[in-house]
Parts: sequence; C-alpha cells; structure tokens
Amino acid sequence: MPGRVAGKVALISGAARGMGESHARLLAREGARVVIGDVLHELGRELARAIAAEGGEAIYVPLDVTVETDWQAAYNTAMLAFGRLDVLVNNAGIAPQQGPLDQLGLAQWNQVIGINLTGAFLGMKHAIPHMRHRGGGSIINICSTAALVGYSGIPAYAASKGALRALTRQAAAEYAGDLIRANAIFPGLIATPMNANSTPERMRMLADKVPLGQRRGKPEEVSHCVLHLASDESAFTTGGEFVIDGGFSAQ
Ligand SMILES: NC(=O)c1ccc[n+]([C@@H]2O[C@H](COP(=O)([O-])OP(=O)(O)OC[C@H]3O[C@@H](n4cnc5c(N)ncnc54)[C@H](O)[C@@H]3O)[C@@H](O)[C@H]2O)c1
Repeated sequence: MPGRVAGKVALISGAARGMGESHARLLAREGARVVIGDVLHELGRELARAIAAEGGEAIYVPLDVTVETDWQAAYNTAMLAFGRLDVLVNNAGIAPQQGPLDQLGLAQWNQVIGINLTGAFLGMKHAIPHMRHRGGGSIINICSTAALVGYSGIPAYAASKGALRALTRQAAAEYAGDLIRANAIFPGLIATPMNANSTPERMRMLADKVPLGQRRGKPEEVSHCVLHLASDESAFTTGGEFVIDGGFSAQ
C-alpha cells in the first residue's frame, strides 16, 4: 500500500483500543505493516482483522509489556511475518487514580512503574538490535502532560511518565550513531477508554481548562504526530518532545 510509511514495520504496544488502536489504523492506512501488541487478545485480533478488511496489513501478538520474554516473542513473530522492524510505539499504559503519595502502597506504585516505565524500557531494549541491524529506526514513547505539570492523585503515573521522558532523551543521545531516533509525545486529556470511568463532572472540569476549544483531544490528533515521527519526514528529529494538549500546559 502506498503512503507516508509505506513498507515500514511498526510494533505498537497497547494497541487493541484507545489511542494505540488509532495509531495502528492510521499507520496501516499509510502503508505500514503493523504489529498490534496487547493483553486484550480478542480486541487485538478483531482490530487486525478490521485493518486487513480495509486493505491494510496487521497481525496481533499477545504482549504483556512487563514480561521480557513476551517482547522477545513479539519481535520474533514480527520478524517471521514481515522480516524487519522500523518503528516501535511504546503506547501501553495504565493511569489508575491512586490518591496522595503518602497513602500509596508499594505494590500499587510498582504496578504503574512496571507497565508504564519498565515496559517501555523492555520494548526499547529488544527493539534496538533489530533496528540497528536494519540501519536505523524510530522509537516513539507516549508520555503525558503529567510529566510536565502537577496533577493530583496520580503520583506513580506522573513519575513513570517523567522517567520515560528522560529515558527517551537518553536513547536519543545513545543511538543517534545507529540512526535510531527516539522521540516523546505528551498527550493532554484525550477521549479514550482510559478516562471512561471518570465522572462527567470531572471530565467537564478538566476540559474547561483546555484553551483550544475547551474539549478533550481526539485519538487521531495524537496519531498524526505518531505518523510524522514514524515516517522519514522526521529523519532529522530525535530527542524531540511533542505536546498535544490543546494548550493546557502552555498556560
Ligand atoms: N487518555 C488520555 O487522556 C492520555 C493522556 C496522556 C497520556 N496517555 C497515554 O496514552 C497511552 C494510551 O492510553 P489510552 O488513553 O489509549 O488508554 P487505554 O486504556 O484506552 O489503552 C491502553 C492500552 O494499553 C493496554 N495495556 C495495559 N496494560 C498492558 C500491559 N501490561 N501490556 C500490554 N498492554 C497493556 C490496554 O489493554 C489498552 O489496550 C498510555 O500510555 C497513556 O498513559 C493517555
């Protein structure tokens, strides 16, 4: 399929629903062969079928990002199916409301850090040898404005995303010589299943603070940035930080 990422192979973690699903659909429409990794097996398989029905190429791999052998198996499957890896989108994440940090249990802390930070580390660790072998690649880490400004009630989430921001810069500096780029995206409030459990009042209160239109962002408004960073249009961009929050954190 022709397109802005034609011929590239992209693995997206947490891609069965929400923003990851939107990234997978857009990259496939623009010619990438997409590997959907998630713990939601039925949804992930359904998405792969839906992309194929639209003329795209996608496979689903079971991937718990906290399990190192799952990453290795996912990349092995990608190699067998498509023979290369060009793009990794570390998108899987959880954002439970946890209350103030002085009341946070160690197990709850570890769970969020494990998925949002250690999961992304493992994804990068095992992607880099494949990308180096191909002569380059693009790593896109989905952070959050919680890495940039203080909210309340999400201490482990904010810490995980702040550390992922730092890890992105570290990777950008470390692997530029291999033509492997690493960039971070900082979405603000985006309408996905992640915040479906919030009360309408809380969503309204947060959306009211967004300068551009007093609304939540749409997943595809983040996907277009992912597409740019996945494509060769961004060949001179690494260590970059892209805030997509309707101006919330600019205030
Ligand atoms: N929605 C927002 O407002 C918002 C804002 C800023 C950043 N983000 C970030 O964007 C990313 C996508 O979030 P979303 O809003 O689409 O949420 P979502 O809950 O709709 O999707 C998250 C996906 O990650 C998957 N996942 C969870 N744990 C996993 C694990 N251990 N292994 C593999 N997959 C796992 C889920 O099954 C799900 O498919 C996350 O990293 C999130 O922190 C979201």
